[in-house]
Amino acid sequence: MKVIIAENYDDMSLKAYEIMKQVVTSKNDAILGLATGSTPIGLYKNMIADYVKGEVSYKNVKSVNLDEYIGQGVGDEQSYVEFMRNNLFNHIDIDLANTDLPSGKAVDMQAECDRYNAKLASLNVDIQVLGIGGNGHIGFNEPNTPFGSVTHVVDLTERTIKDNARFFNSIDEVPTQAISMGIKNVMNAKSILLLASGENKADAIKATVEGPVTESVPASVLQLHPNCYIVVDKAAASKLSK
Ligand code: PGA
Repeated sequence: MKVIIAENYDDMSLKAYEIMKQVVTSKNDAILGLATGSTPIGLYKNMIADYVKGEVSYKNVKSVNLDEYIGQGVGDEQSYVEFMRNNLFNHIDIDLANTDLPSGKAVDMQAECDRYNAKLASLNVDIQVLGIGGNGHIGFNEPNTPFGSVTHVVDLTERTIKDNARFFNSIDEVPTQAISMGIKNVMNAKSILLLASGENKADAIKATVEGPVTESVPASVLQLHPNCYIVVDKAAASKLSK
């Protein structure tokens, strides 16, 4: 695990982009594992800015995403597919046909999990971007999700529903289930880039970096990954012992 401590959110986003830029410039057909949430938005802004400058092309890049809310899809404001289009895909030259997210609208969710697992198995993700929940979740893999898990349907915890309520008109509108890559899928990526900003992530970052590797803190599994970057701002790093 390589921990990189940034001054603030903007600096975290820049440092994260430096790592992403290496991947997308070292080959033109990189496979990106992407994440939603407020944390990676600054990283995506840097990707867009550099694309606009003509520094990078995503024409041959493929992407997969961690998760989607059950019941949400294209056209739904809070869906993760719309998040990705609004915050990244619509502003770079990636082919939407080369982007994939688990579908929250599939009629047969198990079939959708199987499709997504097969897709992930056929790809070799170069870099997987991750945020982290205040409870240490990655993707929607809540505490005590088995490390061997693959794409599955998840019941969201009360804490995650509360954390995500800020994006909805009321807490009652927050979906209670999601479809998420499992921890094993995440760990298969060649490199991992976990971002965290703000004091409300400090306990989760401490447990991830310095705590025991335990299923009760899903992100702690990243200690076992051979090529994992943890890019955090000072507030999120504030509980680290060194
Ligand atoms: P956030 O979410 O980036 O909106 O804080 C991260 C997460 O819950 O994984």
